[in-house]
Amino acid sequence: MSALLEIRGLHAFYDQGRVLHGVDLEVGAGEIVSLLGRNGAGRSTTLKAVMGMLRCHGSVRLDGIELIGLKTFQITRHGMAYVPEERAVFPTLTVQQNLLLGQLRQEPAALDEVWRLMPQLAVRKHVAAGLLSGGEQQMLSLCRSLMGKPRLLMVDEPTEGLAPDMARTVAQHLSALRAQGLGILLVEQKLGIALEISDRVLVMGHGRIVFGGTPAQLRASPAIRQKWLEV
Ligand SMILES: Nc1ncnc2c1ncn2[C@@H]1O[C@H](COP(=O)(O)OP(=O)(O)OP(=O)(O)O)[C@@H](O)[C@H]1O
Ligand SMILES: [Mg+2]
Repeated sequence: MSALLEIRGLHAFYDQGRVLHGVDLEVGAGEIVSLLGRNGAGRSTTLKAVMGMLRCHGSVRLDGIELIGLKTFQITRHGMAYVPEERAVFPTLTVQQNLLLGQLRQEPAALDEVWRLMPQLAVRKHVAAGLLSGGEQQMLSLCRSLMGKPRLLMVDEPTEGLAPDMARTVAQHLSALRAQGLGILLVEQKLGIALEISDRVLVMGHGRIVFGGTPAQLRASPAIRQKWLEV
């Protein structure tokens, strides 16, 4: 049986040249896979390539459907959600209006699901998104991406700039989403959080996957951490 997300031999290019050199990875349903690495390793580029935002070749399959060559909006409609590093909320729109922008089709129950999942957003549904804290805005952009009922979620550094307790809350929400069967590809800078919530971890270096294993295996590999993660 093939994984929900299956990436094979993915190469990606910016104008200046090639950044990904044949990335292979898989994410199953109900699984959190973290993509780790130093600055510039190619983690964000991998997510952008999957979303059809870069020139690339290779294979990216979601539930067996090839995504390479499709436009970003088509990739979204196939069930892929992407939360980029810049938490882009519309500051003058309310929380609820921001969420409704994430809907791909009319699904009245989708909003109720977000309110149930994140009661702290529910109490602020009529507040302008720009007035939310950094953590709440991160949660809002995460929830907006869920409004399209994705099967796979890719999140780029969701805990960046958050206080430790807020980062923990975001991590707990990601775990809750996994429990609902979502596959999650997470780019996370905080090694502790990644090791804690991931089913598997992948380490990237120079545009390639240089290690793959369980969190326990990475914990037991000081040489890998030293060579590819520690600064
Ligand atoms: N828009 C761009 N144009 C040209 N090169 C880019 C662009 N964005 C990233 N790069 C280059 O691609 C490489 C990989 O960058 P990427 O953003 O994927 O790194 P990353 O692993 O997400 O790390 P971090 O987020 O810490 O920078 C780096 O060498 C970077 O300089
Ligand atoms: Mg990045």
